[in-house]
Parts: sequence; C-alpha cells; structure tokens
Amino acid sequence: MMKNLTKEPSGKSRFSRTLVTAALPYANGPIHLGHLAGAYLPADIYVRYLRLKGEDVIFICGSDEHGVAVTITAEKEGLTPQQIVDRYHVMNKESFEKFGMSFDNYSRTTLPVHHQTGQEFFLELYKQNVLIEKSEKQLYCEKDRMFLADRYVEGICPVCGNTEARGDQCERCGTWLEQTQLIDPKCKLCGTTPVVKETKHWYFPLGKFQIELEQYVDSKKWKENVRAYIDSWLKEGLEDRAITRDLHWGIPVPLQGYENKVIYVWFEAVLGYISSTKELSQKRGDQNLWKKYWQDEGTRYIAFIGKDNIVFHTLIFPAILMSWNKGGKSRYILPDAVPANEFLNFEGRKFSKSRGWGIDLKDFIDVFPPDTLRYALALNLPESRDSDFYWKDFQARVNNELADTLGNFVNRTLQFVQRYYDGKVPMAGTPGDLDRWALDQMKDAPAKVGALFDEFRFRDGVVEAMSLARAANKYFNDSEPWKTRKENPGLCSTSINICVQLTRSLAILLSPVIPNAAEEIWKMLKLDGTAAGAGWNTAESFGLEAGREIGELKILFNKIEDSTIEEQIKNTASGEEPAAKTDVPSVVPIKPIISIDDFRKIDLRVAKVVSCEKVPKSEKLLRIEVQIGGEIRQVVAGISKHYKPEELVGANVIVVANLAPAKLMGLESNGMLLAASSEDGTLSLLTTRSDIGSGSFVR
Ligand code: MF3
Ligand code: ZN
Repeated sequence: MMKNLTKEPSGKSRFSRTLVTAALPYANGPIHLGHLAGAYLPADIYVRYLRLKGEDVIFICGSDEHGVAVTITAEKEGLTPQQIVDRYHVMNKESFEKFGMSFDNYSRTTLPVHHQTGQEFFLELYKQNVLIEKSEKQLYCEKDRMFLADRYVEGICPVCGNTEARGDQCERCGTWLEQTQLIDPKCKLCGTTPVVKETKHWYFPLGKFQIELEQYVDSKKWKENVRAYIDSWLKEGLEDRAITRDLHWGIPVPLQGYENKVIYVWFEAVLGYISSTKELSQKRGDQNLWKKYWQDEGTRYIAFIGKDNIVFHTLIFPAILMSWNKGGKSRYILPDAVPANEFLNFEGRKFSKSRGWGIDLKDFIDVFPPDTLRYALALNLPESRDSDFYWKDFQARVNNELADTLGNFVNRTLQFVQRYYDGKVPMAGTPGDLDRWALDQMKDAPAKVGALFDEFRFRDGVVEAMSLARAANKYFNDSEPWKTRKENPGLCSTSINICVQLTRSLAILLSPVIPNAAEEIWKMLKLDGTAAGAGWNTAESFGLEAGREIGELKILFNKIEDSTIEEQIKNTASGEEPAAKTDVPSVVPIKPIISIDDFRKIDLRVAKVVSCEKVPKSEKLLRIEVQIGGEIRQVVAGISKHYKPEELVGANVIVVANLAPAKLMGLESNGMLLAASSEDGTLSLLTTRSDIGSGSFVR
C-alpha cells in the first residue's frame, strides 16, 4: 500500500484554509457516471469530510461554456452555442444538486466576471511580453472555409496512436497537441483532408517554464498515476502553445487586429475557478473572500479532475499563474495537489452516447436514490487505474452492504430500543470484553478513515467506514440481546446502548459518502443539529445519554429487484459492439512516434550466453559473455535479482548490438539485453528458441 500521498496530510499544521475545485464540465451534454467517478464524487467526499472536521473550506465549480466542444454540439443540433450552454448548464447544475454535490458556487464561463478575468490574465501576460506572436501554418478546410481549431480536426495521436485524437488534445493519453502534429488529420465537419494555411496567433511559451515547473512539481506530493504523466511530458520537453483561436465563440482576444479571434478555451477555463470564486464573493457580499482563497499563502489548493485534464492542471495552469505572479501585481497560490482519477468504464466498455452505452446522471437519479450511486461509485473509483461500473455490482452493493449491513444494523438496534426500552436509550453498565472490543472499533474508526481520506484514498476510506458497520452487526449478533434481555438485563442494556452509540458514529463517518442516509439516521436518533455538523472526531465516543428518546424508524435502503436491474441493463448496456476495442487499459503514455528508418538504426541480434557471473560487490549486475555469430562480447546487465548466472548459460537472448559501449562498475559493456519489465518490478529477458543461430537479425 502507498503511504503519505499528500505531503501535508491533514493540512492543519501549515494551512489555515482549503480551496477545493472540481473540473468545470463542458456545458455540451449531460453529466454521466464517468464524470462523477473521475472528479466530482471524490471532491465532494473530501469537502464534506473537511467540513466535518471543522476546517475552513470552499468548493468551487461551474460550467465550461466555450470552446469547440460547445460549437460542434450546437452545429449538430442546429442551435446557437448560447442555446446549448443554457440548456446544459441548467441541466447539469440540477443533476449535480440532486446527486448531493455540495458546491459553494457553480458558475458559468459566459458570465462577465469570467470574461473580464480571462482578458485580464491575457493582457497581463501580453504586457509582460510573455506572450509571443507568431504566424504559423494551421489546418484549414477549404470546403468549410475555416481554420480547424481544436475538435474541428481529428487524426492519429503521435504519442499513443489513438485514432480519435483532437486538434488540441488526445483524450486517451492526455497529451496536449499542436494540431499540425496529428497524423492523417481530417475535418470533423466534412471528413476531407485539410490544407495548411498561415494564420497569426499568440503563443504561450510553456518551454520557458520548464525548470520552474520541474521545481514546482518536485516540491509537491502527487499520486503515482499523476506523477507518471507529468514526468513523461517534462522529459519530452515543453513547447510554445497557441492560446488564441480562429473562432467566434469564446472570450474575444482584447487586442487590435484580433477582432475575429478568441482566447483558447483551455487558457481561460482554468481561470474559471478564480472567476467562480469571485462570483461567490459577490454573492456573499465579501469582496475579499476570493483573494483570501487564491492569494493567501495560508490557503491550500486541491484541484480534482479526471486524467484527461492532468497536463492543464499540473503544468499549464501553474505556468499561467507563475507568469502572472512575476508581474508583481498580486500573487496567486498554485495547486498543492491534483488528485486526478483514471477513467470509469461501463459494463466493460467506454461510455458512448452514440452507441447507447452508459447512463446519464439525471436518468440514474430518477430511478435510484443518489446515496446508492454515491456509495457504489465510491467503492469503485478509478483511483489508480481504470475501473468499471457494472449494474450487478451496483445491485449487490446496495442490497448486501447498504440494506443488509448498514440498514439492518440501524433498524434492529432502534427497533430493540422502541420495543423493549420504551423508545429510550438504555443505560450502559460496565463493559465486558465483547463490549470493549466494539468500543475500540468505534474509537479507532475516525482516525483510520480520516487518514485514508487525507491521502485521497476514498475507496479505502469508505471500505474502512463500512467495516465499522460490519463490526457493529457482528457485535449485535455476538451479544445476543434477544437472550440477555431476559437472562441478564444489565448486559442487554449495555450492548443496546453501545449499538445506539455505534449507529450515531456510523452516521457521522458515512456522512461524506451517503449524506442523505446519514441525516435520516440522525433524525431517527432524534439528535440535535445534523450528522454533517456533528464533528468528525466525536464519532469516537458516546453521543447519546441514557434515557434520551429516539425518533421514528424508517427503512434506510430498499433492496433492488433483479427485474429492475435487468431492465436497466437492457436500456443502457445492450448497444452494438463498438467497431474498435476502446476499453484499452490505461498505460503510462507511449513515447512519440518514430519513423521506420529510426527503428532500423537499431541493430538487434540473437546472442548465445556462453558464460555468466555475478559482478563482485554489486547487488544487481551480472557480467555476461555472449556469442554473436563469430564474435564474443562482454555485456553487463542489471538483472541479478531476477536471474541466477547458471540459469542463463546457453540461453538465446536478444542484444542491441550497435549500442555505444558503456562502463558499469569499471567493466565495459558492449550492448544491451532486451527485457520486459512490469510496474510491479517483475522482469523477463526476451529469448528465442535454440534453433535460431546466434547473430541472426531481430526485426
Ligand atoms: N471542460 C473540461 C472537460 O470537461 C474541463 C475543464 S477544467 C477547467 O474536460 F479547469 F479548465 F475548467
Ligand atoms: Zn494520445
């Protein structure tokens, strides 16, 4: 298990407040479960948890309403971009609310406050001479008579080979592209191959920030998956990027000669977090609020996103803020953590609206209570690799865990109180061994769950919280109150009292993930205030005095019938087979494409191992003599942990025969052995059958 994913786990020591943002979704379609699992649910669990701890936190989001994502949808539907964003802004805001997203503000990037912010940043960077004007070749469709900005062009990603990469980004590997890098580009509107034509744009010199960004990246703690992406981009080297576009929909470029151009959506959308906070300031009548969260070193900033947004939040947004900060007007803080998730698939495939594969949030919550979805998704978050939503799994989680474990425990406990104690919490006597066991579980739970949430391990955190419900059920069973009630009433009232306390603790600990159910429990217990406001650490100990009356009982979760699930499967997961296999497991980005000529420069040969020994004083190295045709060579390889010398003698391995010689621990190595290695450290040399002669080509 990984430890300490965040450098400042609880934040208490160094930070006095936390700013949390969740990626601004494009207002060009409904939110689906993949979005929720990528960024929104983890962000909401985190924020609710921080609030429960009594921390100062704001949660910022809004609709991303510019860009080609919106104009293409508008063209398809024969509507204006404004009509599209009006429709989806309202729809998404509403489904987020129903789902329980507890944003402090949900803004829109078409608002004046955002246009002003976008132009202000653009002009500041322009005045500082950070931006560079260049006339460069861009793709132009002669049929549609327009420059093919961003999603108007599709082609093959030069980095990972995805055939549906867009003009500005490959969503599969997350690379930020220049459209001229696309292989075999096609106009998205008419399918023809575009020509190249010169046009003028302003460029942001990302390459100049390479060193500062490396320092920034090294100063923070990242999730492993996020760091792997960042490192691969940094290693490749950062380049200048155009931040204006030949489009009409967006924030106008505030410079003469640019009347028909707008600011690139990704340059301004990230600033939407700032303008959304400004809007919150206005709403709360506190003009300094946004500055406190964005410009005070005492604020810790956490940006929740999905993996296709990593480059924008870990490199580009920080670089924009760094350049602003150089102007000396004011200083923005940079993200302290970007806990990006991988993708959620649906029943084994990628979500695809056009293929009728998947379900939108708004349709889901018409049928099932939001807490059931929050819970099932939380246990299935793609935190370190892609994951899948399966209807059967959803049903099992709801029926076995929410209904049978949590619901049942709460119900049998409170029913016992109603039936045998006149609806009043019974007295607790001196605890015995079994009682002490249960109390220990309760005492440890907030710290255990909290530590996981602090590290953005929401999946494990929710599992841990739910294991308290399992322990509570076991405790109820093992204490057998239905027997002790007659045989030993003192024991019985002690165990029921403890069960009531456990019920309250569960409401608190599960409140970040199932907020509605938590408040239902709170009401059944007739407690004052709310579970969300009870204080995280109060879940350790007793919160209800003996003699206190409890409220009316309600069923927390209904079980889901097989027929209901079958129907959902029929409606959402019986689309046609996709043409190409799209549910590719995520990998660390593949290196840039090379030509066949580049590949042919490498001389790969079959070599026979003639002798092999450990290099003295080295843990890793083996000294190997190989025969390549008539030649015997010495190769030094770091594989001693994986192969014993005697195992290798006689094997046919593959050698890079024309690699420049290198010295390892004083020994000359003439070539390199090819081996496959996986992320978990397993290694396997590539070998051939013995009937291939040494010296044979490998190609
Ligand atoms: N609209 C983008 C998407 O849906 C996310 C934008 S995040 C922001 O992928 F920070 F730029 F707003
Ligand atoms: Zn790609």
